[in-house]
Amino acid sequence: MERVHFGEKLTVSPVVIGTMNLLDWGVDARGLLDRVKEYIDLGLTTFDLADIYGGGGCEELFGRMLALEPSIRDKIEIISKGCIVYDTLRRPYFVSESYNLSKDYILSACNASLRRLGVDSLDLYLLHRPCPLMDPAEVAEALSQLRDEGKVKNFGLSNFLPEQIAALEAYTDIPFVTNQIKMSVKCMDFLADGTQEDALRRKMPLMAYSPACGGALYRKDLSKDDLATVEVLREIQHEIGAETLDEVLYAWLYRLPVKVVPVTGTGKKERVLRAVKALEYRLSREQWYDILRIARPADVSHKYHDI
Ligand SMILES: NC(=O)c1ccc[n+]([C@@H]2O[C@H](COP(=O)([O-])OP(=O)(O)OC[C@H]3O[C@@H](n4cnc5c(N)ncnc54)[C@H](OP(=O)(O)O)[C@@H]3O)[C@@H](O)[C@H]2O)c1
Repeated sequence: MERVHFGEKLTVSPVVIGTMNLLDWGVDARGLLDRVKEYIDLGLTTFDLADIYGGGGCEELFGRMLALEPSIRDKIEIISKGCIVYDTLRRPYFVSESYNLSKDYILSACNASLRRLGVDSLDLYLLHRPCPLMDPAEVAEALSQLRDEGKVKNFGLSNFLPEQIAALEAYTDIPFVTNQIKMSVKCMDFLADGTQEDALRRKMPLMAYSPACGGALYRKDLSKDDLATVEVLREIQHEIGAETLDEVLYAWLYRLPVKVVPVTGTGKKERVLRAVKALEYRLSREQWYDILRIARPADVSHKYHDI
């Protein structure tokens, strides 16, 4: 499997294993170690974590897994993210999310991730979401410190718009190697907000989270619109000879000109393998547009109104 270059110093597997729901996979540290070894044998060596997943519990479980067999660390790439704050203490009656990209918060969040994982460094650290209050100069200081201390080898962003990336870049010489955003047949904002063009201009791969629409197309109580989408996806599934609908979802993303690395969320290995299998398909222009037409959410309609 061809690996994907994230900047000059890092390569990742073409499908990344997401761990947001790791605590629901039904594995303990030993079971996770077996699973990680299976993924490594398949060439799937890159794992996506975040401090907030499972309230820190996902990083802790991953750390306990690594402690069982420390040599695994050198066989994988660890990605983590920080800077989303769940504000439950100040207003317990209103569980809200806010973001903190102050220097102190970035440093403490990243150090806490390293502690939970029990590792000296991360291969890639992503700022999880942009914050209207972020001061790019402060962010730049925090990232430089983490780089200089050897705690983070590469940096990237998540959920950033092109102009927000540009604002940060004006204050740092640290290259951002990816932007992790929500991309699927049910979330096409990236086609309307300049994200794809920005990534192409930078020659920067995008990481697609929720590539299987968070499971939304597999529910029993699908809306009329989703049923129509599934019907088209099934037709294309048969046309390309795919075994499952998932493969079409991934193939739709792989057909884009920008390099897309999906971050799978499933806890089932056979479903992860569908993302790998889909690397073999190339949708025709007509198939790709048939999906765009039927599935496009309102947010991209204004840009592609004549289709
Ligand atoms: N940067 C960010 O802001 C951000 C935000 C969200 C997520 N993420 C990352 O992206 C990863 C993936 O996100 P996601 O979980 O939304 O991705 P996803 O792969 O689109 O959705 C996974 C969900 O869909 C279900 N699913 C997948 N295939 C299915 C099938 N064939 N039939 C029935 N159900 C199916 C899975 O259930 P099963 O487990 O039962 O298969 C799981 O509940 C996360 O783990 C995390 O690492 C990042």
